[in-house]
Amino acid sequence: MSPLVSSKAGSSNDHAGVDTKSESDTGPLASKEGPAPVTPRGRDRRRLFLIIGAAVAIVVLGLALGLGLGLGLKHHSSANYVTTNSSFLLDPSFEITSTPTTRYYEWVVEESTGSPDGFERPMLVVNNQFPGPLIEVNSGDQLVVNVFNKMSNGTTIHWHGQLQNGTNYMDGTNGVTQCTIPPGMNFTYNFQINPNQYGTFWWHAHASTQYTDGIYGPLVIHSPNEPILGQYDREAVVVLSDWYHDMSSGLLTQYLSNAGIDGSNYGGFNPGAEPPPDSGLINGKMTGSSFLLEPNLRYRLRLINAGTLTEFMFSVDSHVLTVVEADGTSLVGVNVHRVPVNVAQRYSVILTTNQTVGSYNVRAEMQSICYKLANPNLNTMVLGTMTYGAEPSTDVNTQDWSDALPGACLDLNSTQVVPAIPMTPPNSTTSVTVDMSFQQTFDSGGQQIRGFMNNTSWEPDSTNPTVLQVRSYGAQTSFDQNQLVVVSDEIGVIDLAMNNFDDASHPFHLHGHVFWILGEGDGSYQPGVSALSFDNPPRRDTLTIPGFGWIVIRFTTDNPGLWAFHCHIGWHMAAGLLMQFASLPDKIQQFNIPSYVSDQCASQSGGAVVGKRGLWPSLSL
Ligand code: C2O
Repeated sequence: MSPLVSSKAGSSNDHAGVDTKSESDTGPLASKEGPAPVTPRGRDRRRLFLIIGAAVAIVVLGLALGLGLGLGLKHHSSANYVTTNSSFLLDPSFEITSTPTTRYYEWVVEESTGSPDGFERPMLVVNNQFPGPLIEVNSGDQLVVNVFNKMSNGTTIHWHGQLQNGTNYMDGTNGVTQCTIPPGMNFTYNFQINPNQYGTFWWHAHASTQYTDGIYGPLVIHSPNEPILGQYDREAVVVLSDWYHDMSSGLLTQYLSNAGIDGSNYGGFNPGAEPPPDSGLINGKMTGSSFLLEPNLRYRLRLINAGTLTEFMFSVDSHVLTVVEADGTSLVGVNVHRVPVNVAQRYSVILTTNQTVGSYNVRAEMQSICYKLANPNLNTMVLGTMTYGAEPSTDVNTQDWSDALPGACLDLNSTQVVPAIPMTPPNSTTSVTVDMSFQQTFDSGGQQIRGFMNNTSWEPDSTNPTVLQVRSYGAQTSFDQNQLVVVSDEIGVIDLAMNNFDDASHPFHLHGHVFWILGEGDGSYQPGVSALSFDNPPRRDTLTIPGFGWIVIRFTTDNPGLWAFHCHIGWHMAAGLLMQFASLPDKIQQFNIPSYVSDQCASQSGGAVVGKRGLWPSLSL
């Protein structure tokens, strides 16, 4: 059970990257001060983790045995067995300060086996944990994550929602900001958490549909300046995700093929229909995710949808939730019974443990009505339990809220996500209109269903990411036909209007920015006719565009780099629903991009990469 403590936050001395030229050169870390020394407090924390880890391990083992015996499930014990984090209660002694520090993590991404929902399958994990390690930082901290790829395929890690101002090449987006990290190599992500950013974020693999197989985890940014700081006593991370029984690569091939998903389970082949998941998970478990709380405290639950296709409706029986954060923007609190959380979105809700002591159902209901294809074997009601002031009950029968579900497949409405710090967006200088659709293509390699942004269906340039192209050619860069790139030579303000010609809604994410949502509606956007709002509009990084509907977002092009704007449904990004904004090419040409970024690209187009393979300096693997 040692994997529980294999996350090496705060460790030092053992970080020499594979770029190392001499003992003193920190390789990929060059030019930064290097990792923070292990402080006594850091040691205490790790000891605490060990103790908590051991306790959790015993509980997990107990539950696993109990469930396994009780339900007659097969539980193999294999060396690679994945540890499941059953709850992410945050350590209340984490010091929230505006004095920046360096947080150092060492990660190994590898293939493993696990059975988060009772069905054993191969999966992909970081440090043998699922969900992956929690990253907890303060605004302004330097985050250094040295990622070793032990898998047989390339990977990247993206830091969802991070602004990456000046460090676009640390954004972790395959084909846009880097090539995949080749098997046997490492890549050191090293960037500053923006001093003005705080809230709930996450990280995930950003190469094809890879994160679907398990490479994701929470990223929490604290700040003494967060407006909602005084509104709660404790906090916990709640990672919601949909889960498949097959590796995503095979499902993707079927999905993109003209025949579609082999739906022997679902009544034949279904061209263009996304593979429906087999289950849903709360903090990596289908059942038994358990939140042990104290009575009469206010808990901030940080909800993260790390799924691939599914919008979740989150609720806790008998407990009103006050929504106070959406994607890192603090909100004027609003009370709800349920929160819809679409793929890649985050909300913080405050729950007060002031009802009758005991256990309550925590519900994450999968909105399968938004799927094109139903899976008759899917149990859409994913349950966990929350207990305070009593022994946890194994037989919780509290009742769901009785009021009707709010409109499915949409976000909370704009009056429910009012920013706590009001802002009026600046006037726009440029308007861009994009139509998104799915079309059947008949070119090379047979027929396929592809996603289109205007007339472009994205494919990653896996040996020459667009940021390296712009670093070479600046504003003169001519992108190939698979790339739709909007270039801004100067700082301006873009209004992006998008029309959705698909019947389903889609969660769209813009990298490196927090945008204003000016409006949304049915049909197509009509400039001058469709209603927009400029009065402290919602600000976030991921929004849902309604089926056959439109959205208008506004953002400032003051962040140099290549920024992906894409549907976060894994199947759809892989099918081509991605475009890019290239801001300030002159500044991109001045980027100080570490040599290993281009070296790893060279290695993929056949170039020799001397001294970069297989050094694994600090890990006994
Ligand atoms: Cu959550 Cu392009 O990312």
